[in-house]
Amino acid sequence: MIADANVPVSITGLGAYAPERILDNAELERLVDTSNEWIIERTGIRERRIAADEQALTDLALPGCETALAQAGLTGKDIDLIVVATVTPDMTFPSSAVTIADKLGAVDAAAYDLSAGCTGFMYAVVQAYGMLAAGLAERALVVGGDLLSRILDWNDRSTVVLFGDGAGAVVLERSEQPGFLTLDLGADGSGGEHLWLPGSGSRLFDEVDKRVKMNGREVFKFATRVLVQSAEAVLDRAGFTIDDVDVYIPHQANVRIIDHATKKLGIASDRVVINVDRYGNTSSGSIPLALAEAQADGRLQPGKLVLMTGMGAGLTWGSTLMRWTLAS
Ligand code: ACO
Repeated sequence: MIADANVPVSITGLGAYAPERILDNAELERLVDTSNEWIIERTGIRERRIAADEQALTDLALPGCETALAQAGLTGKDIDLIVVATVTPDMTFPSSAVTIADKLGAVDAAAYDLSAGCTGFMYAVVQAYGMLAAGLAERALVVGGDLLSRILDWNDRSTVVLFGDGAGAVVLERSEQPGFLTLDLGADGSGGEHLWLPGSGSRLFDEVDKRVKMNGREVFKFATRVLVQSAEAVLDRAGFTIDDVDVYIPHQANVRIIDHATKKLGIASDRVVINVDRYGNTSSGSIPLALAEAQADGRLQPGKLVLMTGMGAGLTWGSTLMRWTLAS
């Protein structure tokens, strides 16, 4: 689906958090048969954060939620919708969204989790936009985060080098000026076999191995294609070109994938937010972590045209084009 955002809705608060523990490439060299040179050349990743044993998804998500609410000048009680995008909830049920609602005192909020792989945050933003635009909610908290370290096969060198843990959140509210301009979401289930987690649901398998499986080359081809297609689709729809984009936030999967998209789109590299070198791929945490970093270093200023594109397991993709309205 692709749609114009006809009702003005903006991001009014933003926050993110990554666990303290740093796992660098030198340490990975001691865990699996890999090298710092290989990881940097193929992925651009130098280090990633790994959650402590006692941390679960909601522990990673709550600091960002609190920052986002404070920026919006709200408390949990003001929120009437919480959507949490994750593939690593604290547990399948109760949802992580209800746990977060409880911790924040969001007693009037509808709360649920959503699963769209690494594109989860974009799906959750578009869903919350739809609820606000339809008048079903007034103030939404949208959370994206994952602890992929919990579901990796730590003997599989092709995946452990890529991923890290982290989470972030935004508050969405109806606004006077338009924030979101165009929204695009897509899915191609025929690519589901390229990135999957067997034994994580009701489908039974002969051998139980509940760890991430990935066909890296296929995911790479898909990623480089959809990042460009989805970005161009929202720009065309809104009547802008890539030259109008001030800040481009692609899903932080891999520097090579981002470089490929940057070149194909023809956007100057100083407009592209990259932090995958320090966090790895944090799945649904990736875009809010990058947004928070761009806000902290002053790149996100009111009036800037911001393009975000996610892609991931499903295979899925999603973009939003928006005018930034939040003062840093
Ligand atoms: N260290 C050293 N060698 C390795 C490693 C490693 N960590 N991993 C794989 N290799 C080897 C392979 O075994 C292979 O060896 P061979 O030639 O002897 O068979 C060689 O390196 C090349 O392997 P390729 O898979 O062809 O390497 P490629 O250049 O494609 O890079 C990578 C692999 C980095 C995984 C790349 O394909 C990629 O980034 N794919 C996208 C993955 C991704 O982003 N997934 C997340 C999507 S978002 C979500 O929803 C979670």
